[in-house]
Amino acid sequence: MKIKSAEIVISAVKPTQYPEENMPEIAFAGRSNVGKSSTINMLTNRKKLARTSASPGKTQTINFYRINGQFHLVDLPGYGYAKVAKTSKEQWGKMIETYLNNRKNLLEVFQLVDIRHKPTEQDQQMYHWIKYFGFHGIVLATKADKISRGQRQKHLQLIRETLEMDEEDLLIPISSETREGKEELWEVIGEIFRV
Ligand code: GTP
Ligand code: MG
Repeated sequence: MKIKSAEIVISAVKPTQYPEENMPEIAFAGRSNVGKSSTINMLTNRKKLARTSASPGKTQTINFYRINGQFHLVDLPGYGYAKVAKTSKEQWGKMIETYLNNRKNLLEVFQLVDIRHKPTEQDQQMYHWIKYFGFHGIVLATKADKISRGQRQKHLQLIRETLEMDEEDLLIPISSETREGKEELWEVIGEIFRV
């Protein structure tokens, strides 16, 4: 994918702030710190389009990025960050649910999990939610640079089993560090937008 332009449209917390539903979009969901914002930067070849941080809880709003004037990539706030107060956890749930429920131009939600760790209960919930909402359930295993090639299959298998993924569901190892998986991901995104 040739990236001609990539810019933030808006950071939103409620539907009235969402951009118009006039172009297709894909969203990135997952735990805080899993690498959602970094993945958007990797895909768009921009270092600082989406703000990233070594400490979890960086993205707190729904951030819409317009790519090539043609589609949106949507960065969702992460879940599972222990230091966040219970009220903001509830707000998080509502914000995400409202978004997933009401967005007609949302064609897919990618679920991101860290390749090193067994998916948490919240990851399982999120994944089942994504499937319940009728999306394919494509999982990106992030930070693939952090484990050796020899360990990889074992980790991918654990993710597949824990999330109870179907055999045909895509599980793609990616790394924002080495850019592994970037081309495959763009191919998948291209397929989704062609539907
Ligand atoms: P929240 O906004 O808090 O939900 O987090 P996020 O999922 O957007 O994570 P973010 O992209 O901010 O990345 C979190 C940390 O992980 C940062 O320090 C990144 O540099 C690091 N990171 C992200 N992707 C990779 C990767 O592929 N490899 C390695 N080694 N580090 C990564
Ligand atoms: Mg983020």
